Amino acid sequence: MYRLDTIDLNKPAPADEPMRQYYFIKKARSYVQKESEKLGRPLTSAVITFGCQMNARDSEKLSGILREIGYVETKNEDADFVIYNTCTIRENANLRVYGRLGVLHGYKKKNPHMKIALCGCMMQETEVVEKLQKSYRFVDLIFGTHNIFKFAELLTEAFEADRMVIDVWKDTDKIVEELPVERKYPFKSGVNIMFGCNNFCSYCIVPYVRGRERSREPGDILREIKELADNGVKEVMLLGQNVNSYGKNLENPIAFAELLRMAEKIKGIERIRFMTSHPKDLSDELIQVMAESQKICRHLHLPLQSGSTRLLKIMNRKYTKEQYLELTEKVRTAIPDIALTTDIIVGFPGETEEDFQETLEVVRKVRYDSAFTFIYSKRTGTLAAGMDNQIPENVVKDRFDRLLKEVQDISRRMAERFTGTDQQVLVEEPDSQMEGYLTGRLSNNHVVHFRGDVSLIGCLVNVHLDECRGFYYMGRLVN
Ligand code: SAH
Ligand code: SF4
Ligand code: F3S
Repeated sequence: MYRLDTIDLNKPAPADEPMRQYYFIKKARSYVQKESEKLGRPLTSAVITFGCQMNARDSEKLSGILREIGYVETKNEDADFVIYNTCTIRENANLRVYGRLGVLHGYKKKNPHMKIALCGCMMQETEVVEKLQKSYRFVDLIFGTHNIFKFAELLTEAFEADRMVIDVWKDTDKIVEELPVERKYPFKSGVNIMFGCNNFCSYCIVPYVRGRERSREPGDILREIKELADNGVKEVMLLGQNVNSYGKNLENPIAFAELLRMAEKIKGIERIRFMTSHPKDLSDELIQVMAESQKICRHLHLPLQSGSTRLLKIMNRKYTKEQYLELTEKVRTAIPDIALTTDIIVGFPGETEEDFQETLEVVRKVRYDSAFTFIYSKRTGTLAAGMDNQIPENVVKDRFDRLLKEVQDISRRMAERFTGTDQQVLVEEPDSQMEGYLTGRLSNNHVVHFRGDVSLIGCLVNVHLDECRGFYYMGRLVN
């Protein structure tokens, strides 16, 4: 963090990052202060996140900057400044944003000081920005995924300009370090280890909206984790679209498994998670590091997408059904108590009943602890969007229902295997349903509810799992 009191706003903004952004934080701060004096109350801000862990982490950065600028964070969307950090992975993600923008417009009519900003993956699509320019004129600021580090500068511009400010970059090779961040939880945190994706799975929009794969320097990552540990963080989640290819393109290449080994040595960090692994480059070395580790959590999210080798090829996933099964077998043998979870797409163009049966077969063989199932959504610009054998909605829906049932039956049975055991749990929050109860997470990412005092939040405790209720456990504290 840089000190704002050493910055002179009478001088021009420095060219180098991150200093330039601290200059604009101070400048925006003066506007917020003025407005707040005029209104006789503090200005409020709300950051609303759609999409994945990557977006959640980006939102923490937005919140950090807003805090430095002088806003008081609130969850209410009738705040003085509201920003939507958007996702565009499936069409309904976009529809949700348009729907909620209508509600925001209503708030803005009542509060003329209100500013509305949109950022994130959806803004990287030209059709979206065109639509917003045409039909959503009340939006004040639009920016994309590549220049999120410029938020303070863009917000300053929005204060100064009397028009919609739009700044979306096509791509970047830049990673700006050392900007403020506000963590949602004091005891756990995401840590970006890489940005973008080079895999171009044929259904997926991410490589187009997040740009080319860029890894952070291991030194920067480890420094951040150490700082988090010094500030009381016990669990870190290393984030990337394909963490298994981390470090390959650095000037001094390094393997993900090696980064994990180094992260594990950091004192104070008790748990390490990561997201997401691509099956095509999950190494034996990584399995070994996980098996030997005391800190790496007993959970591996390994997206399958489809069980049909024929479809996997068209999806450009670069593994076969057999290779996937072999891999999960290897993981379960090396780490017997691991929880395996996955993502599956139903209704990819050209999917036949036989292809679908192969997906069901893999689900039955791997026996996932849980699985996210998605109906294929056509994304403009991707290869699959141009394929002409799209599957009728009723067929997809029927397959989706059958898959969901299979997945849920298996998850329930898999969860039973831990009933009656004692498990280490990171206590996360008071239980939202039951007074006097807490909610925590096991190493394998399962949730448990148990009686306990709120002073335990953020602590690692031992809990006996008394009962499995489908997707969560009821337990009790043990010493
Ligand atoms: N990088 C991760 C996935 C990120 S997107 C990986 O490669 O595993 C999260 C999930 O959304 C994907 O695993 C996929 O199952 C789903 N998904 C992506 N594009 C989709 C689309 N066009 N339609 C439906 N689901 C999609
Ligand atoms: Fe999308 Fe594939 Fe990249 Fe995952 S690996 S983000 S599914 S293109
Ligand atoms: Fe969505 Fe972007 Fe994540 S499209 S899933 S928020 S990378």
